[in-house]
Amino acid sequence: MNTRNNFENRPATNSLTDVVLVTGALVGGICVMALGLLALQLGFGATPSQVVREFLALDSIHIWWYVTRASGLMGYLLFWLSTIWGFAVSSKIFDPFLERVFTYDFHEHLSLLSLGFVVLHALALLAEKVEPLSLVEVLIPFVSAYRPFWTGIGIIAFYLTVLVTVTFYIRSWISMKVFRVIHYLSIAAYFGVLFHSLYAGTDSALTWVQWMYGGTTLVTVFFLAYWSILLWLRKTENAVTRS
Ligand code: HEM
Repeated sequence: MNTRNNFENRPATNSLTDVVLVTGALVGGICVMALGLLALQLGFGATPSQVVREFLALDSIHIWWYVTRASGLMGYLLFWLSTIWGFAVSSKIFDPFLERVFTYDFHEHLSLLSLGFVVLHALALLAEKVEPLSLVEVLIPFVSAYRPFWTGIGIIAFYLTVLVTVTFYIRSWISMKVFRVIHYLSIAAYFGVLFHSLYAGTDSALTWVQWMYGGTTLVTVFFLAYWSILLWLRKTENAVTRS
């Protein structure tokens, strides 16, 4: 059966439960792991309430700054996963063992989840007590008092991601070609987000965070190269068939 038709005709709500379950397990697993590590760090005498207060930094004036950093990192990781998942889906890597309906829904869901974390990332910047950003600084690129260039790149990447995500919902109104061209913008958005995170982020000074950015970038470049080669081969094949 033609996979492109499968994609265009798939019911929007299909396998939503699977997607919600997998994402819930992903986010839940990360939270349980973080709480476990913190409990170990605090020692076995710590009460659950102490672990939760420490985990959420409820007693700190910097709580919103921690929220912005944590949600930024979650937003980045989900965006990265969505980007490489998109390359893998487009390269038909999962086709032998996963349903296309699931892989497309999961891709769409990862983008939405990433956007959710990024919205929290931006809202927390407004709520920050020590160096808050104004609404104008959060919405308009390059006017922020804090690292204006790299913050501006993050804002532009965010708008690009919103545009790309919106096309999931209006794809029946636009041609497949327009859908694809807009989707290609997410490659620019990914690299924008990467440099934004690296150069605007406080945590970029940490070695494990640098390894995380380095590792995720290498995986992305691998998938991008694989996808580009396949695309080029497909185009060459089509040109030969036509001539
Ligand atoms: C797709 C969109 C975005 C993603 C994935 C993203 C992700 C990140 C990440 C991972 C960091 C580094 C966190 C750290 O190391 O502390 C960061 C920092 C930052 N982001 Fe974003 N961001 C996005 C959009 C935005 C937007 C729209 C703004 C609005 C102003 C923004 C403002 C900032 C600021 C000010 C910092 C520095 C926070 C700090 O460490 O003090 N970002 N972002």
